Amino acid sequence: MLPVEIKKDIYWVGSMDYSMRSFHGYSTEKGSTYNAYLIMDEKITLIDTVKAPFCLEMLGRIRNIVDPAKIDYIVSNHVEPDHSGGIPFMSQQCPNAKIITSDPNGLKGLTGRYGEKDYITVKAGDTLSLGKRTLQFVPTPMLHWPDSMVTYCPEEEILFSNDGFGQHLATTERFADERNLDEVMHQAKKYYANILMPYGMQAQKAVNALAGLKISMIATGHGVSWRTNIEDIIKAYQDWSSFQKTDKAVVVFDTMWHTTEIMAKNVADAFYHIGIKPVLFDLRCDHISDVMTELLDAKYIAVGSPTLNNNMMPSIAGFLCYMKGLAPKGLKGFAFGSYGWGGQSIGQVENALKDCKVEICLDMQKILNTPNPKLLKDLQNAVMGLKEA
Ligand code: FEO
Repeated sequence: MLPVEIKKDIYWVGSMDYSMRSFHGYSTEKGSTYNAYLIMDEKITLIDTVKAPFCLEMLGRIRNIVDPAKIDYIVSNHVEPDHSGGIPFMSQQCPNAKIITSDPNGLKGLTGRYGEKDYITVKAGDTLSLGKRTLQFVPTPMLHWPDSMVTYCPEEEILFSNDGFGQHLATTERFADERNLDEVMHQAKKYYANILMPYGMQAQKAVNALAGLKISMIATGHGVSWRTNIEDIIKAYQDWSSFQKTDKAVVVFDTMWHTTEIMAKNVADAFYHIGIKPVLFDLRCDHISDVMTELLDAKYIAVGSPTLNNNMMPSIAGFLCYMKGLAPKGLKGFAFGSYGWGGQSIGQVENALKDCKVEICLDMQKILNTPNPKLLKDLQNAVMGLKEA
C-alpha cells in the first residue's frame, strides 16, 4: 500500500472502502474513504486512524514511510469508530505514542470504548509543537458528536477537518480538483444533509471559528480533500447550515395501485407551472438519504401515501422518522394521497409533517378511489395556489 504525499513530509495514509453501501441507513453508493495523515516532523504524528477492519491497509502505507513504532502522537479528532477504530491496533504498533483527544468528551469516549491508554487532553486554543510545525486544536462540539474537534497546522495552513467538508466517496484521487467537481460537491452536500444537518448552529459556529485561519488545504476525514475551491466548500457550508432555500419542491410518495403516484406527478407539474422546480422521489425505488440531500435547500415538501391497513405506508413512515431526526428547517408542505375507504394515512402524514416542524401550507389533498380529470384539475389548482406574489 502506498502513501500519498499531500505536502512535503505530510502523507495520506488512510484506507478505501469501495464496498460500503450503507452508513447507518445513509446510502453510500460510492463507498467511502477513511482518511488518516502522517506528519513526519521531530515528533512523528498520526492524525486520526481508520475503521478497524482497514488497519492493515493504513499500516502498510505508514510502513512505506517510517517504522510505526517511532510514532510519537496519535491525534484523535473524533471518537466515532470510522476514525478511532484503529486506535487499539495502532496502540500496539506504536507503543510510545500518546493519544491526543478533546477534554472532556473525547477522553470519555475513547476511555469508554478502548479503555485506559496514554491520553493527553486538549481544549480550545491548546497547541502542540511537533518541531518545525505546530498543531492547534479547535473543538467543534456536536459537529456532530460531543467530542468532535478539528486540528490546524499554521505553518502548513492545513486544516485536518475530520467529518467536516468530507464526502462518502471511495477514490484513489486525493483532491477534489482531480475529480468532477459537481460530483464531489453533490457528495459533500449528501454528507452534510445526512450527517450534519441537525447541527446547523454548531456548523455555523465552527465555520466562524475557522474564519480567522489561513487555510490553503482542508484535509478531510472522508473522500477527497480540498486544495482548490476552498472558498466554495466553505460557502456551501455557510449556505447549508443556514438553510438557504432555492425555488424547489420535493415530492415524496409511495403507491399501491398508481393512484397516489398519479397525484404525485400532478403535484409536481403544478409546482413546475408556478416556477418551483419539482423533484420527485418514489420510495419504492429511491433512497431516503437522496431525498434528504434535495430537501436541504428546498422550500416545499409534499408527501403522499395511500392507506395500508389503516396506516401510512411503512416506507413513508420510515422516511418521516428519518427526516424528523435530521430536522430540516424552514420547510412548507402538505400531505396527499388516494384511498379506498378509510384514508387515515393522509392525516397521519400531515401530523408527522407537523412533528417535523413543517409549516402546513395547504390542506391535505385526498382523492377517493381513482383520480378523474376534474379531481386532478382541482389538485393542480390547489398546488398552483401556492404561487408566491
Ligand atoms: Fe466519520 Fe462521525 O464519523
